[in-house]
Amino acid sequence: MAKRAGSRRVARRSEEELEKLKVAGQIVGETLELVRAQIAPGVTTLELDKLAEAHIRARGALPSFKGYQGYPAATCIQIDDVVVHGIPDDTVLEVGQVVGVDLGACYDGYHGDAAFTTVVGQPGEYHGLLDATQGALMAGIAQARAGNRLKQISKAIQEYVESRGYSVVRQLTGHGIGQQLHEPPQIPNFYSPGAFEDYELVLQPGMVLAIEPMVNVGTAQVQVDKEDGWTVRTADGELSAHFEHDVVVTDSEPLILTLAEGAKLLSDVSGYWKA
Ligand code: MF3
Ligand code: CO
Repeated sequence: MAKRAGSRRVARRSEEELEKLKVAGQIVGETLELVRAQIAPGVTTLELDKLAEAHIRARGALPSFKGYQGYPAATCIQIDDVVVHGIPDDTVLEVGQVVGVDLGACYDGYHGDAAFTTVVGQPGEYHGLLDATQGALMAGIAQARAGNRLKQISKAIQEYVESRGYSVVRQLTGHGIGQQLHEPPQIPNFYSPGAFEDYELVLQPGMVLAIEPMVNVGTAQVQVDKEDGWTVRTADGELSAHFEHDVVVTDSEPLILTLAEGAKLLSDVSGYWKA
């Protein structure tokens, strides 16, 4: 008999825990907005990282990524063909580059983790890849409802991306989040029957999910940099984008935690568009 999707492995957070997750999520959202405002030609990715770390600490939190499995920075910053896990350094941003920022904060033992992608020097301008990736995130979030199966999130993301002619990365997934940065379940951004046990998980109120589509212009294939062991690039050198939010499954609508203005229900952010 197939093993049942492990709902017992997936934490359901108490109101007290959710209050801490809301603070962590808001700190992450604020920090991302602070970094977004500084993205411009001439700025280095390490300058952005230092700004982020200072804000996280000033808000009484810790940078979740720093030291995680030996990761050396507070943020991951990825340019053009880098998909995720770009290490900040003295690289200078140039106009027209596709730049993604991903960061985490731990407040009173509870983590938040979110990401956005934008174009250097052209914030808010329409970009098909960014539109598809952020739209896919919102389509996935819309499926994060009690009683749905997790695969409905995966399918919604894949359908949104592929119908627009892009590909979803398969070698990396979203994840549960709480007292650890990465907790069960795994949240794939595609559906392939039998590939993940967690597809069949029935979502329940109190589960907290970090949903994070990574979307490529060309091939879905990615490879990890052999020198630093972290930087993930598209195999064909084409562009990639990444958006992420943490979401609580509730009795009603999905509650998005990682907004600078504080947690909001999905219907209160629809039309949200700031890439
Ligand atoms: N948001 C990223 C993820 O969920 C976290 C980066 S991993 C770290 O995979 F090592 F940098 F923390
Ligand atoms: Co994540």
